[in-house]
Amino acid sequence: MTIVLIKGARPYGEGDPVDVLVEDGVITDIGSIDTPDNAEVIEAGGQVLLPGFVDLHTHLREPGREDTETIATGSAAAALGGYTAVFAMANTDPVADNAVIVDHVWRRGQEAGLVDVHPVGAVTVGLKGEKLAELGTMAKSEAKVKVFSDDGLCVADPLLMRRALEYSTALGVVIAQHAEEPRLTVGAQAHEGEQAARLGYTGWPASAEESIVARDCLLAEHANARLHVCHVSTSGTADILKWAKERGTKVSAEVTPHHLLLTDERLSTYDPVNKVNPPLRTESDAVKLRSALAEGVIDCVATDHAPHAVQDKDCEWNSARPGMLGLQTALSIVIETMVRTGLLDWRGVARVMSERPAEIGNLTDHGRPIEVGEPANLALVDPETEWTVRGAEFASIAANTPYEGMRLPGVVTATLLRGRITAREGKITQ
Ligand code: DOR
Ligand code: ZN
Ligand code: ZN
Repeated sequence: MTIVLIKGARPYGEGDPVDVLVEDGVITDIGSIDTPDNAEVIEAGGQVLLPGFVDLHTHLREPGREDTETIATGSAAAALGGYTAVFAMANTDPVADNAVIVDHVWRRGQEAGLVDVHPVGAVTVGLKGEKLAELGTMAKSEAKVKVFSDDGLCVADPLLMRRALEYSTALGVVIAQHAEEPRLTVGAQAHEGEQAARLGYTGWPASAEESIVARDCLLAEHANARLHVCHVSTSGTADILKWAKERGTKVSAEVTPHHLLLTDERLSTYDPVNKVNPPLRTESDAVKLRSALAEGVIDCVATDHAPHAVQDKDCEWNSARPGMLGLQTALSIVIETMVRTGLLDWRGVARVMSERPAEIGNLTDHGRPIEVGEPANLALVDPETEWTVRGAEFASIAANTPYEGMRLPGVVTATLLRGRITAREGKITQ
């Protein structure tokens, strides 16, 4: 039997420190506990104990771009970031649009053994936006795909989106939309606004996101389907989500750490590390996204972890690929933007980083309360210690972090997956 005793932790940062006993993957006791023989002891010293984080939106690049990330390296980055489950986006090469690929991704994740890697299935064949992929076959495969998305691209055709939503209801899965009306973003390079105009970049207007979100909320409502909106980036989208939720539409939404913290002010450096899709917006958008997350209008945080090779980022702005790393910095950015500002307490962090994403992704064994009888998927967090971001030191193969050199608060000191310690003091433990 594997036994781990976490000594002196504060679940959800509340109350006096308690000991948490984990036996064979399950929390079996919480209180003042004598150390059993053979127990591996984690001295928590009053640190905050949270349910392991769940990332609904990760790009792991395998198969196809193993020069930038693999399922194993991305899993390591996730475990170090406090995650116990991630959803791997389908825009790989080949695309994860069939049972063979999704089952392959699922198995590779199990082999790596550091987090549960749930493959996202593509909505359309080859992400081409022309023909629906076999959602049912993927949902019933070994990987039991629970989330479908053409992320990277928008399912722009309203009829296809309608059909996808209708099928998703029958299958009990969720469609996650990358909301970007392609006709409004031809050649787009940056948020359409003062900064882009000054720098001479083609603009990516807020309306390209908002028009799709509004349309999809209506389509989802009529199909009685569940819609998930990826990486909400504008203030207007938050308003639409509020309106739709008040009407009873089954819509959920995520925001990325980078859209909570960074703005298009950064673009004046011309450094493509800041290029991302959807683009960094304005300060008032970021402020609105934070309050929408605090209020639950936006349900959760998802990283959109997007590793890219040096040659695809270290080039002129227009030819650089969009995307930034996120798994090993997400918690720190949430602490900086949401906890230090008083917008969320640790219960709130558990909600947006673990409980809601697990619910949205239909996971029953993650995002669970820290209670006796529950699976021991846990993250132990030292909330005060600051660290300096060094992309080269990340477990990811790529190093494209926009936070390079920044001092950030919050260190994940241990991650447990079903009672197994996967990361400890910044190192992978298997
Ligand atoms: O910035 C992004 N990068 N946005 C996306 O939608 C796709 C992603 C990627 O795959 O690199
Ligand atoms: Zn996207
Ligand atoms: Zn993405």
